[in-house]
Amino acid sequence: MILNDTRSNYDFVRYYCTAGNGMEAFLVDEVKRKLAAKDVHQIQGKVLFSSSAVIDRVSRLKAAERLFLLLKQDAPLRLPAHTSPARASHVLQSRLLGDRNQWTGAVRTWSRLQGELAANRNADKITAKKARKETEEEKGVEEEGKCLVECRKRTRELRVDEWESKKLRSDKQTNDKEKEEEAEVLDLSGVNEVEEIKSPDTDRSREKDTNQSCGTSHTAARLEHNVEGCSRTMDELDTDTALENVSFRINCKCSGSLSRCLSAQEISKVLGAGLSRLLGWKADLKNPQLEINAFLSDDYILLGIPLTRSPLASRSYIKTTGLRSTIAWAMASLAQIQPGFLVVDPMCGVGTILIEAAQEHKAACFLGVDIDDGQLQKANENMTFAELGSRVHLLKASSMGLPLPSCSVDAVICDLPFGRKFDTKINMAAKLPLILSEMERILCVGGTLVVLLSPQLSSLMKKLLTQKHTDPTSNQEAKPPAGEQEREFHLSSLKHQTSFRVSLGAIDGLIHKYVKT
Ligand SMILES: C[S@@+](CC[C@H](N)C(=O)[O-])C[C@H]1O[C@@H](n2cnc3c(N)ncnc32)[C@H](O)[C@@H]1O
Repeated sequence: MILNDTRSNYDFVRYYCTAGNGMEAFLVDEVKRKLAAKDVHQIQGKVLFSSSAVIDRVSRLKAAERLFLLLKQDAPLRLPAHTSPARASHVLQSRLLGDRNQWTGAVRTWSRLQGELAANRNADKITAKKARKETEEEKGVEEEGKCLVECRKRTRELRVDEWESKKLRSDKQTNDKEKEEEAEVLDLSGVNEVEEIKSPDTDRSREKDTNQSCGTSHTAARLEHNVEGCSRTMDELDTDTALENVSFRINCKCSGSLSRCLSAQEISKVLGAGLSRLLGWKADLKNPQLEINAFLSDDYILLGIPLTRSPLASRSYIKTTGLRSTIAWAMASLAQIQPGFLVVDPMCGVGTILIEAAQEHKAACFLGVDIDDGQLQKANENMTFAELGSRVHLLKASSMGLPLPSCSVDAVICDLPFGRKFDTKINMAAKLPLILSEMERILCVGGTLVVLLSPQLSSLMKKLLTQKHTDPTSNQEAKPPAGEQEREFHLSSLKHQTSFRVSLGAIDGLIHKYVKT
């Protein structure tokens, strides 16, 4: 979708976003599609782009982790071995600092964007308050959504009444999403009137890994800076005098050859001293107006200012997080959901995939299936919290015997259990043939299957799909547990389209897309 609210009266702004490993391609596609972005450039873990879209749009990107205003993008510094730290510092300052106007211009742009973001947040709060009031007024009125009616029509034989009776209801619980710090805040002591020297441990980068996906609060990187207090900052930085008195902090990440001459901490000091000299700015580790992030590696140099306090990947509309939202969104985007589609997640957990899909596709309807009452309870709370109760339905059933007619579903999207959390509970390798064959059965011809699997399960799936009719007795890995019925599995109608390896934190997963022929 190309924007119609791009503004011709504003210049294009150059941004960059961080992205999880393997998510860069999804983000490139998203910025082109939603923001009509230009000069899109991808490097590992980051996507750079220019856009004249309103900042509200930019800050709603779904595949990104965090959003920055780009200050500088440069070729890497290649210093000869044994370069002295003094020489390295000099080269660094002359390459990175540039002229005064570049910095003040960037701070003005940042300040303007902060003001717009603050205004949007206030508008969102007012809308949410109004919506809450209306919901309270309408309490007691059971509204069957238009979408559900469509669903009923399309899947008459489905046991809709069963879904309804099994829909779980419960009160909201406190959102216990935890956030972790990502940026390494470095000691600028000695640069300029620094109030406090922080221990590196207190601010060390900590990307806490999730152990596979389900039911865990995924870790979101957190910035500790003044981005959120933007209206104050904007007022303060709106005049020329104010621009001469900016307080700042530099967070630096450095790798490769440069890190052998100077540590990240030393680079922060060098850049901080240079900025103070060039602009009269004051270093302040505790409560700076401006935070500057510097990434220096053998591949690139990037300087940027964070635009939002919380990562874009932290979804305000999700109460309990399961699978990383960025990955859930990416899986939904691969399913190419169209208006009127019925989309099923047969192992939905707390429903992250369904929420991400339903947020993006308002004219489709969704069914989540899970065998676990606790997961369904949380999924139901999540749907209520996200106000998706009328379009996302939940059903307690097994993915090995789905109570849905054959060829009744347009897309199946599923994050199968694997990794430490689920390995001990069930033997997925043994159950995979039956689960896949159920997914294949309910899909209509032309329907899409998107699955997230471990590398091991991916190899097994590939094997299963190349066997003509999968007989689990011929495959020891896929042998069903004793007592379970042995049967033939017809999977050859699933045609592989594409695969992506993505990071789930501690482990990697593979997203595969198939189409039923
Ligand atoms: C990896 S989790 C799904 C996580 C989900 N994507 C989320 O964001 O919460 C896998 C889910 O499969 C469910 N499950 C395990 N065996 C099942 C079965 N036979 N039928 C249906 N669900 C099952 C588990 O209860 C768990 O919620």
